[in-house]
Order: sequence, then C-alpha cells, then structure tokens
Amino acid sequence: MTLFRLFAAFVLSFIAIPAAAQTIAQAAPTAQFVASAASPSGTLKVDVTLNPEGRVAYAVSREGQPVISESRLGFLFTDAPEMLRNFALAGQSTRSFDETWQQPWGEYRSIRNRYNELTVSFDEKNWDKRRMTVVFRIYDDGVGFRYEIPRQEKLAHANIADELTEFNVAEGGEAWSNSAFEWNREEYVYNRTPIEQIGTAQTPLTIRTNSGLHLSFHEAALVDYSAMNLRRVSGRTLKSVLTPSATGPKVSRATPVATPWRVIMIAPDAPSLYRSAQIILNLNEPNRLGDVGWVKPMKYVGIWWDMHLDRKTWNSGPKHGATTAYTKQMIDFAAKNGFGGVLVEGWNKGWDGDWFGRGFDFSFTEAYPDFDIAEVSRYARSKGVVIIGHHETAGNIANYEKQLGPALDLYQRLGIPAVKTGYVADAGGIQAEGSDGKMRFEWHEGQTMVNHHLKVVTEAAKRRIAVNPHEPVKDTGLRRTYPNWVAREGQRGMEYNAWGEPKNPPEHEANLVFTRMMSGPMDFTPGVLSLIGKNNTQILSTVAKQLALYVVIYSPIQMAPDLIENYQAQPRTFKFIKDVAVDWDDTRMLAGEVGDLAVFARKARGTDQWFVGAVGDEQERRFDVALDFLQPGRRYRAEIYRDGEDADYRTNPRSIVIEQRVVTSSDRLAMRLAPGGGGAVRFVPVR
Ligand code: NOJ
Repeated sequence: MTLFRLFAAFVLSFIAIPAAAQTIAQAAPTAQFVASAASPSGTLKVDVTLNPEGRVAYAVSREGQPVISESRLGFLFTDAPEMLRNFALAGQSTRSFDETWQQPWGEYRSIRNRYNELTVSFDEKNWDKRRMTVVFRIYDDGVGFRYEIPRQEKLAHANIADELTEFNVAEGGEAWSNSAFEWNREEYVYNRTPIEQIGTAQTPLTIRTNSGLHLSFHEAALVDYSAMNLRRVSGRTLKSVLTPSATGPKVSRATPVATPWRVIMIAPDAPSLYRSAQIILNLNEPNRLGDVGWVKPMKYVGIWWDMHLDRKTWNSGPKHGATTAYTKQMIDFAAKNGFGGVLVEGWNKGWDGDWFGRGFDFSFTEAYPDFDIAEVSRYARSKGVVIIGHHETAGNIANYEKQLGPALDLYQRLGIPAVKTGYVADAGGIQAEGSDGKMRFEWHEGQTMVNHHLKVVTEAAKRRIAVNPHEPVKDTGLRRTYPNWVAREGQRGMEYNAWGEPKNPPEHEANLVFTRMMSGPMDFTPGVLSLIGKNNTQILSTVAKQLALYVVIYSPIQMAPDLIENYQAQPRTFKFIKDVAVDWDDTRMLAGEVGDLAVFARKARGTDQWFVGAVGDEQERRFDVALDFLQPGRRYRAEIYRDGEDADYRTNPRSIVIEQRVVTSSDRLAMRLAPGGGGAVRFVPVR
C-alpha cells in the first residue's frame, strides 16, 4: 500500500463510511457495550449496549456488516411505570448448545439446533430496582431473543400495555408485508414496498436488502401472550405492537414472565432464508405429547368445494351437502384413490340463519337429521378411511369452549382422529366470556385466543385428535411441542379462487413460500384441476401449477378439494395428486426468488422417492437445476408434469405435458414455467 493510499484510507475511515456500514459505537458514540456474543461459526454477532439514560439496546451484524442497528428494548405497563430507562448491568452469562432432534412428521426428519446463548440482566437504578433479563440465542442464520421478567415484589403481576422492542433495519431494501389489524385478518395479498413504506405489518415479514441479504421477522413459542405485529415508526425502524385485548392490558400475567422469542432470520439468499425457518421450531420446547404415532400425515378429500361454489350448502335444506349418502360417495372415492380422510363440513346444527361472526347456535354434538354420524364413521372405517371432523365457531369461543369436552369426546368415540376448526369473524370479532361472565370482543391473535387455541390443541391431544384451525392464530412453531397441531390456514388459500374477484394473483404462492410459510404448514387446499371457480370464473393458474403446489406449499395434511367428476375427467393429471407424498425426510429449495420462483425437492419420508415442485409468477420463468439430491449410481423414472409450450394462465391454462424419462443424479432438470405456471416431478427408483 502506498503512503498516499494509507493516508486516504485513514481519512476515509473517519469521513466516508456509508451509514449502512457504521458500527454501533459510531452510530451512537455514547452507548456503552455491555455484552456481545457470536453464532457458532462466527457469522452473526449480537452486541448489547446501555446508553447514558440507561436504555438497553441490541444490534446484529453479519460478517461484520450491520443488519440490525441499535434497537431498543423495554415495556409499558397499564398499572406500573414503564420499564425502559435507568438500567444498569446486573450480570451476564453465555453457553453453547448443539443437539439434533427428530420430527415425528415434517419437512425434515432431523433438525440441528446449534446456537450460542447470551443472557444479560439489568436492574433499574431507581427505587423500584426492577429486573429485566434478555436471553439471545444466536444461530448462524438468525437470532432469537426473549425477555424474562422474574417474579419480583414491584412487579408481581405484569399488565403489559405494550412491548417496546425495536428492529432497526440497517440497510435499505424491499419488503413483503401483510397489513395488521385489518378486518380480514391475515387474508390479504402481500404488499411489496420499500422498507420505508411498511405500515403496520403482521409477522412473518420478509425483507430483501439492497445488498441481497434476506431477512424474515417473526416470533416463536407464542404462549400465554399476545401476538406481535410490527409498526414502522420512522425510517427503517420497526417496533413491536402487541395485539390488543378487550380488557386493557394487551398481556396480563403473574410474573415470572418469559415472552415469546422475537426472531430475525438472516440469510444470503431466498432458498437459505426458507431453510432458516428451522429456528422457529428450534426455539420451541420439545414434544410434550410423547408417542404421537397417532398423528397421521394424510391427503384428504371432502364436502367442501361444493359449498364454496354454491352448489351445496352448509345449512340444512334441499342443497345440504353433509348428507349420509354424499359422505358415503366421498368415502368410496377416497378409498378407491388412496386418500386417508374425508372432511365433512356443515354436518352439525347451527348453520341455519345468520351464523357469520355470531355462532351462538352451533351445536358441536348434534348432527342434522340427514347426516348419520355414527353410520358414516362406521362406513369410513370399513373402507380404511377416516372422517375429519369440523367445528366452525364463527369466532364465538364462549359457545365453543362450553361444548369442547363433549364435542371432542364424541369424535373420540366415533374414531374421528382430526378436526378442522374455524373462527369466521371479522378482526376484533371474537366473542369470549370474561371471568365476570360477560361477553367480550377480542382479536384473533390476542392473549385470549392464544390461550384458547392451546386449550383446544391440548384437549384434543388427550383424545388423540389432530387439529387444523382456519382463521387461526399464526404459527410460531408450537407443532414441535404439540405435534397434533398439524396445520392451519392463516392466509388466502384456494377458497379465494372459488369466490368472486379478486382471485389469488399468479405470484401469490411464490410470495407465500417466503412469507406465510416461514411460520409453518398451511392448509392451502391445492389441486383444483378444473381451474373453475363460482359462476364459471377462471382461476389464475395453469393445471401443472395446481400439481406443483402439493410440493411447494408444505402441509402434512393436503386436500384434493375439486369435485369428484373433475378428477375423474383428468385421470392422467390426477395421478400425481394420488402419488404425491405429504411427509418428508428432507427438503431442499433448488432455486428461488421471493415472489418470482420457488423450486423445491423433497424426499418422501421412509421411501426412496423424491418429488420436485416449482411455481413461478405471472411471467414466464425458467430454471435448470442439478439432480444431485438423487442417490448416486441409481436410476430413477422421472414422471414429469409440465406446462405445455403454449400454456399460459390467461389463454391456455390447461395445456400440460405429461412425460417420463430415466435420469440419474448426474443429470439436470430444465423446465419452462408458463406465465401463471408450474411443474411437478416424481422420481421413482428403477432397476
Ligand atoms: C372458512 C374456512 O377457511 C373454510 O375452509 C370453511 O369452509 C368455512 N370457513 C366454513 O367453516
């Protein structure tokens, strides 16, 4: 280095450091470092600081570059002074953890949980002397942290008005967000905006920075607390906003309180961001249910799409869908085609009249007279199929909780091993009974509902019943602890394609993969081969894409929702839906860009078969990937379902090519995805 260069570098180090590259010390020269720790490979680093006011902050950097700049921590209470200033360091410790655990079902058979943990405690310097502890778990691809408020005299009960956690994104970029607190809950098309235009967003929230870093903000282990949303307060600073409660404090709990984990997943590209979502599971407690062999991943059919098309009704009358006769027809179809279950909606009394957002009339034990629940259960069993129960509550959990025990007992007696629950009510329209016996209106993700869902899941587990809520609380990885919580809705699923306009746009699923799916399985219900919604409206997808969704949108329960006759009309295409697996040993994203493309390879659990699924957006997309995930030296028959050369979701959505070829791990798979298209492949070992 010449003397001039050395001098220039010295001067630049003072005057020309771009804002994004500043260290915390430079950004806030008066803040004092109190603790720091790095991830196991040293990729990520967390620094904890205290400023002269005694405010606690953290920052995260990746390979020396700031990712989250100084971001403050603290609480507001409804009946106690705020907890955010005047802190002094009380102690700190670190430990390392490395364990590989097995999932009873899932996208991966085994998951490695490897992190370094940093625990930092602060005491207030004023007369209250309250303590706040923050625990960081630092992974190579993300950071989780939680607050612990110990039991203490000045805070025996925490009535939390809000949590003041900040996430100050260091670098500019684009965000994919869903507005929070809107009437239709989680069910919105994603907004793609600069970070500076995020409003108040739900989590998971996805960001791609200008330098290409991929971030996802979410939470893990949401238990006895209210869900976190993120509001942009200035620049690129996001701040937590807890979901409200009807009673004042957003969270009300006796101390000690451990909050859910606040999680920032940080990855160099879109496929590794998807994989980093393992952190959400890792931050949850291990399985509490013991042997869950009774939780069976499965594909199912049901009395469902008919109603969304208005061909049949949930309520009684001439078009009633859930009749004994129609259910038996469905059972026969399921048995003949290898489906494990038949969902029956509208079987129980209470659908007549105005049920939406009311739900007072629902009985969860009495069937309509044209539905013989004992007989259909017996008939299903005789055919090797199970009935999947349905509890639509219309958000009236007061009515549901009163009947919960007997309702689940009935299913257990009849051998019904799974229930789809529903909370159809506008945001803020959950009806719950307070301890004073009065009805209150709550939010779908407030503390009351968080506790309600866990109550349903644990009561169901006692009876060996799996649960799949719609209009749910978001997934925060609790399926690790309670593996009977198999899936949920929580975004716009296929049903939007049955209804009027707007339908799900062609990029919807390529958005979902990197946003909603970061939280966990979704009961999306793909596979509408007719591509037709209500009043003969067109779904914005090719046929091949409908197949691809079984691989792309993960769930251990996958529905084949279309009408029986529509599957019978396309037997060659339907074959993929019959063949595709729902439970996996391994998952790899072979190519992906948020909102544009997602190509997955998944190995069917306990077999040597692999499946590939790829979805694009409204543009033509191409990919060319190595098949090196296949076992070397082995030959596979690739059963390929791809968009025809002339396929286009607008003009020719039904054009599909179904072909076979023999491949090995040294081959490649190149595919063109039509606008609105997709592709699916099954790899079967051959001699
Ligand atoms: C909305 C759910 O998403 C849908 O699947 C269900 O059919 C209806 N509610 C009725 O419960």
